[in-house]
Amino acid sequence: MQAKIITAFEQRFGTPPTYLTRAPGRVNLIGEHTDYNQGFVLPMAIDRHVWIAAVPHADPLLTIHSLDFNETISIDLDSLADNTLPHWTSYTRGVWYYVGQKAPQLGGVKMVIGGNVPMGAGLSSSAAIEMATVELALALINEKWTAAEKAQVGVKAEHDFAHVKCGNMDQTISAAALEGCALRIDCRAYDFLPVHLPDGVSVVVMDTHKRHQLVETEYNVRRTQCTEAAEILQVESLRDATLEQVKATHDELGDVRYRRAHHIVTENKRVLDFAEATEAKNLDLAGQLMNESHFSLRDDFEVSCTELDIMSDIARHQAGCYGARMTGGGFGGSAVALVQSTAVAEFMAAVAPAYEAATGLTPTLYEFKPASGSTVIFRP
Ligand code: GLA
Repeated sequence: MQAKIITAFEQRFGTPPTYLTRAPGRVNLIGEHTDYNQGFVLPMAIDRHVWIAAVPHADPLLTIHSLDFNETISIDLDSLADNTLPHWTSYTRGVWYYVGQKAPQLGGVKMVIGGNVPMGAGLSSSAAIEMATVELALALINEKWTAAEKAQVGVKAEHDFAHVKCGNMDQTISAAALEGCALRIDCRAYDFLPVHLPDGVSVVVMDTHKRHQLVETEYNVRRTQCTEAAEILQVESLRDATLEQVKATHDELGDVRYRRAHHIVTENKRVLDFAEATEAKNLDLAGQLMNESHFSLRDDFEVSCTELDIMSDIARHQAGCYGARMTGGGFGGSAVALVQSTAVAEFMAAVAPAYEAATGLTPTLYEFKPASGSTVIFRP
């Protein structure tokens, strides 16, 4: 894939790239919708990436060629915030805009973007574009930022340019990931604790091929409901609420906000318990926590869908599967399972046809190993 991006750059711009950066997609093992409630998440980066090949521009222009869209666009650096530009450019434009605000010396660039993070599968291809873009911008201005600082410009690009009010999980793991382990991230403090999966267990991601629907509107509605619940509970964010408090405030919260708060408070605890269980090699408990997370997302937070319920249910019933759940924002995308490594082939061979028979959709299944975070591959 890397060679393909370099060749595409040479063909388009007639010269080899002098910069190459890369950032991974992610799968979240547990801790869903907790990031924007300043809570805990436990994702890992996957060995699927976005690459950006580039050379600096003589002019103040951001020239982007997307291999996925087979389109090239040149944007004046003064017009980065023009929201009539194609949506696919928003992640790159947004990052260039916000890095440029902090570092006005950031100039123009010609780039080719491409990669192999499946789009629309809930594996954060957009965060990977953002973090590969940040790496390029920082290489050009010769600055080093922390993973948290890199993630923050990605989140701002997502909020203000792509209009999704996401939390900071996807960008943080794409920037901070360590090869061979997942990270337990405290989304308030931005501190990271490596969590090692024991030998002999595999992470299987199951793309339902049900593409996200309603995700932007429903996502923003969930955020508002969580903020309202925190106000009623008189806490800064749901991270600070206890289960006792939530239960005692049931009537004031009303049924919907009660269930939203119940999910967040119980999910935060599940993340902490999952990290401990995994480090203690107690995979039965880790798997059970994943199952409980799914049920809570389905019943309390209401962000699952029929396809994700069917997929995780089929997965859960296979020999060698410790647990399974939807992963990411929900309403489509992928589910994730922890499976005994020796049982993965059989697991995949059984899950795919059973899911297809139940839904009429052909899924894609992957086994992913925890990959490292965003990086500069070469520069002058
Ligand atoms: C999307 C968002 C993340 C996070 C998840 C749900 O992936 O981009 O910030 O909120 O949904 O956990």
